[in-house]
Amino acid sequence: MASATLPAGLLDALRQAGRVVFLTGSGVSAESGVPTFRDALTGLWSRFRPEELATPEAFRRDPQLVWDWYRERRRQVAAVMPNPAHHAIAALQAWLPETLLVTQNVDGLHQRAGSADTVEFHGNLFSNRCRACGHEAPQLDPEIAAPPPCPDCGELMGPGVVWFGEAIPGEALQRAWRGAAEADVLLAVGTSGLVTPAAALPEVARQAGARVAEINLHPTPLSAQADFVVTGPAALSLPAMVAALIKKSP
Ligand code: OAD
Repeated sequence: MASATLPAGLLDALRQAGRVVFLTGSGVSAESGVPTFRDALTGLWSRFRPEELATPEAFRRDPQLVWDWYRERRRQVAAVMPNPAHHAIAALQAWLPETLLVTQNVDGLHQRAGSADTVEFHGNLFSNRCRACGHEAPQLDPEIAAPPPCPDCGELMGPGVVWFGEAIPGEALQRAWRGAAEADVLLAVGTSGLVTPAAALPEVARQAGARVAEINLHPTPLSAQADFVVTGPAALSLPAMVAALIKKSP
């Protein structure tokens, strides 16, 4: 029996699924109050485009400016909480036999909601990385005022996120690609499907025979590849999925 907003076919596919992949984008964090990626540049930062700040060239040109933008985003994220969409994904991961959570988000909110072993396709705001030697370190305090020197090579360390023009971390790419190729169901939640290679994962899953569902406020380039399109806020649709599958399961 379908719930008010979820297709019966999707619920049945999830009940029968052996492996489920979640692919999330900034829309899953929207209801926590984190601006979606393409809305992130507001207020003082509205005069910049992400391509002007989230790049190795921008950091080389003006490390303090780039650091200040990421410090603002770290402050924003440190001040918010995971929302019902994050918690519903964690609950579904605990209930389903085998899942892989691949997120494009760098806010760490899935982990704070209890999702262990999250594949962070674009890195994490609360870490730093040295682009000269590759040294990585946690950066839990959002208030550090300036890029710290790398303890290994002395170069300035930047945020541990993937910038435009940088490669996706190898292990993350491999795990996500293999997960999509072996999935029975892939749920694309809150992503515009504009940025590859993440945006190619639903097609990898579909080609391998998976059912694909998209959960979004609006149609995206992924909608045409989806067997199911659930239109509405993730913070409503995903808890409805939990209610239909877990709360009512015998
Ligand atoms: P976008 O800002 O491109 O897209 C956010 C998507 O979430 C849009 O399709 C919205 O319609 C949808 N959305 C917004 N609120 C929602 C809600 N409450 N429930 C469901 N959907 C909602 O963000 P991403 O797709 O995550 O990469 O962007 C992907 C990547 O583009 C980012 O990770 C970033 C950027 O380049 C890097 O930084 C490398």
